[in-house]
Amino acid sequence: MKREIRRWPDAVLSQKALPASVDDVTMVLAQDMLDTMYAAEGRGLAAPQVGVLARVFVMDSTWKVGAGTPEIFINPEILWRSTELVPSSEGCLSIPGVLAEVSRAKEIILRWVMPDGSVSAQKLVGFRAICAQHEMDHLDGIVTLDHLSPEARAKAEAVLA
Ligand code: NI
Repeated sequence: MKREIRRWPDAVLSQKALPASVDDVTMVLAQDMLDTMYAAEGRGLAAPQVGVLARVFVMDSTWKVGAGTPEIFINPEILWRSTELVPSSEGCLSIPGVLAEVSRAKEIILRWVMPDGSVSAQKLVGFRAICAQHEMDHLDGIVTLDHLSPEARAKAEAVLA
């Protein structure tokens, strides 16, 4: 079921999310987040964006170009980041109309809990690496605007005003 997407500067977007339990409540939340993400035509969504301060995000890196690959990440942790950085032009469903130029690690190793309770770890590359870093930021109360210089941020905020 779709939930309401919180828009910046909603205070919930600036708060640190707490560890999630692997239970029915989290599963319903994750499914609702996928429904919300697809309805908004996004490729990633973090729980604080629907007003829940739990360490959960969802991602589907392929549905816009072919078959969908919905993924649920519970209590994700970045174990390693490549020193190589890549420029990334990022939109955010909570900051509509703004593309922020940020810098991200090209590759990361992410560990997370799967919906069945098992632990997974994987090297993420390409869009999945970038998107996961964006969503991890949301779990720590950070949005794309927080990565910008004061000048670039002022410009972005002018668009939102
Ligand atoms: Ni976002």
